Amino acid sequence: MPEPSARLSPEPPAGFGALLPHMRTEAPGPRSRELATLLERHEAPTASTLARGQVPVFWERTRDANILDVDGNLYVDLTAGFCVAVAGHSNPRIVAALSEQAAVMMHSQGASNPNPLRARLAQRLAELAPGNLSVSHLANTGAEAIEVALKTARLHTGRSMVIAFQGGFHGKTIGALAATSQNYYRAPFQGELGGVVHLPYAYCYRCAFGREYPACDTFCADYVRHVIEMPDSGVADIAALVVEPVQGHGGWIVPPPSFLAKLRRICDDHGILLIADEIITGCGRTGRLFAVEHAGVVPDILTVAKGLASGFPISAMITTPEIAAAWKPLQHTSTFLGNPVGCAAALASLAEITERGLVARAAEMEGRFRERLDQMQRRCALIGDVRILGSMAGIELVEDRRTKKPAAAQAARAVANALQRGVMATNLGGTYHNVIKMSPPLVITWEQLSVALDLLEESVQQAA
Ligand SMILES: Cc1ncc(COP(=O)(O)O)c(C=O)c1O
Repeated sequence: MPEPSARLSPEPPAGFGALLPHMRTEAPGPRSRELATLLERHEAPTASTLARGQVPVFWERTRDANILDVDGNLYVDLTAGFCVAVAGHSNPRIVAALSEQAAVMMHSQGASNPNPLRARLAQRLAELAPGNLSVSHLANTGAEAIEVALKTARLHTGRSMVIAFQGGFHGKTIGALAATSQNYYRAPFQGELGGVVHLPYAYCYRCAFGREYPACDTFCADYVRHVIEMPDSGVADIAALVVEPVQGHGGWIVPPPSFLAKLRRICDDHGILLIADEIITGCGRTGRLFAVEHAGVVPDILTVAKGLASGFPISAMITTPEIAAAWKPLQHTSTFLGNPVGCAAALASLAEITERGLVARAAEMEGRFRERLDQMQRRCALIGDVRILGSMAGIELVEDRRTKKPAAAQAARAVANALQRGVMATNLGGTYHNVIKMSPPLVITWEQLSVALDLLEESVQQAA
């Protein structure tokens, strides 16, 4: 069999970035299928859907809110590639910054020889982060930032246990996986995942306590206090509480602001460090630079990744000087720490986010999503719940609004239907795999958003 070529298609169409969908073949097309055979042959089944018999669409070019696949199909992206491309895919300013830096110096020794951009990025993060969060540790992935956060909390407090939440996701390296709740990822490694207790999140649509907000007065947060304060709860020696301000993998679950505020008070009362995992929600995604701002909460440790460089792998754990002082020099390093190209990309991405008003745009997007998704819910019986904060907008599909039976098969069909219409809405998730999770690049045009949501509605209707 001839090897599929990895050649880039010659030129993108005029206006690429702000274009509406245009499909040339079914998705995935023949070239995606051809490349899939190559990937399946040579890549471990860890990292794609191929082992499940599902052929993914191979992306070839991206710009702003457009994706061009290897078969020439043009999509509007409602996912930003797992919430990453906050400032737009292949944002020209970020591309220029990282290309210039790569030409000058691609690597400086992570631990022993820093580069100027590393100092500038650490300074910029200190300026932007809330409260006294003024020192950071740079890393490459979200999971790594979480690892450092958990280790920092344990070092600083001298305690061992962590409270995390059911439905929470924090990464798949062993330390982060311990805090992650999804049993699918955890099951084979269960024996190595100690030190974390998972408690119910403020998932109001499916309240673990059978209560209703606001009458419940966020009882779920009170329950966290109960577990900590009850002498015989079996939970003791708690170093940290790690929480996503909006649960991502859990299904775009937006808690009432009082949930986080109560958690802050509980942590203060018990000398527990509050870790806000803002790997999805940070960098403007929710209409504030950091989602904790919605609740007026300053965490002790904050983690960012995805949107930090809008596509280049870099992450950060940000904390206070006092908490960071628990570390001894060189106790946690990695080869690519503070990579100059990553720092250049992050600085440019943060400049785009702050200077182009993208945070305000995410806030405005919330109103647009609200109007359109509420209308969609009135017209589609499948839509049980609509959850939105800034540019994070999710619809939870159910077979019956009364029983709330999850409609996972219909959700999968809706996403597949949308793909055929040129709408990338592939972030299907939630505990029951029935939530269509949207998080477009913040530079998506209002026309692109409006057309993509019309096409999504058709796709959901067709899936019923
Ligand atoms: C909230 C949250 N934390 C941590 C991670 C892990 O990040 P990474 O996949 O870069 O390791 C993710 C990834 O999706 C995430 O959504």
